[in-house]
Amino acid sequence: MGTKKLVEKTYNKLAPVYDNFLGGVNEIIKILPKYLKHGKILDIGCGTGEDLKFLSKFGFELYGIDLSEKMVEIAKKKVRNAKIFRLDVREVDKLFPNDYFDCVLAMYSIVHLPKKEVKEVLRKIKKILKKDGLLVLGMLLGEGEKTVQVPFRKELKYFVSLFKENEIISILSNLGFIILKKIHLKPETYEIKFDRIEIISKKKGKYDESLRN
Ligand SMILES: C[S@@+](CC[C@H](N)C(=O)[O-])C[C@H]1O[C@@H](n2cnc3c(N)ncnc32)[C@H](O)[C@@H]1O
Repeated sequence: MGTKKLVEKTYNKLAPVYDNFLGGVNEIIKILPKYLKHGKILDIGCGTGEDLKFLSKFGFELYGIDLSEKMVEIAKKKVRNAKIFRLDVREVDKLFPNDYFDCVLAMYSIVHLPKKEVKEVLRKIKKILKKDGLLVLGMLLGEGEKTVQVPFRKELKYFVSLFKENEIISILSNLGFIILKKIHLKPETYEIKFDRIEIISKKKGKYDESLRN
């Protein structure tokens, strides 16, 4: 089975229990309203919609996409005022116009892409972000690519790509993102056993470009 089918199948089976055991609002999302006051936010790999639900209290215009039909079903019921679609992130620039979002989240979702596809997907995300728009990423730290057992459901597996911190920072810098905030997290006992990093970065705007000239 290809990595995409494996990930989709696993999350379809995991969806009913994801909320109870593995979901919750991500740490960096709790502080996002300090960096963004209004506008359109897209959550890529929105899962069961916990981050969207939290952000819905702040008056943003919310969108979500996810590969798993079952995760989308739960997220749609949970966050009624968000527009949520079943879509592979690889197609994200076909659904949304260029320079559309003020903020894009990809919290532990593009970790499920093969490493060689991550940069290309980040390039597509950059296209749909406005200048000065924020990219909020959650990534697993480590090296290489692995197929691992899912915490709590050992019979299920998914594929993950791991990055060293300097590797992910240099991909973002090369694409023209400016790092604004990083949070390092250790795995909780019930979680997948990798250290994690959550990053808020910003697509360069007119002001940043003029500073370089
Ligand atoms: C670890 S969960 C994270 C969910 C949520 N963002 C969170 O932090 O709780 C990963 C999510 O990414 C979705 N996903 C994986 N690969 C994807 C892809 N290629 N396109 C869109 N979503 C994807 C999965 O279906 C799953 O809901």
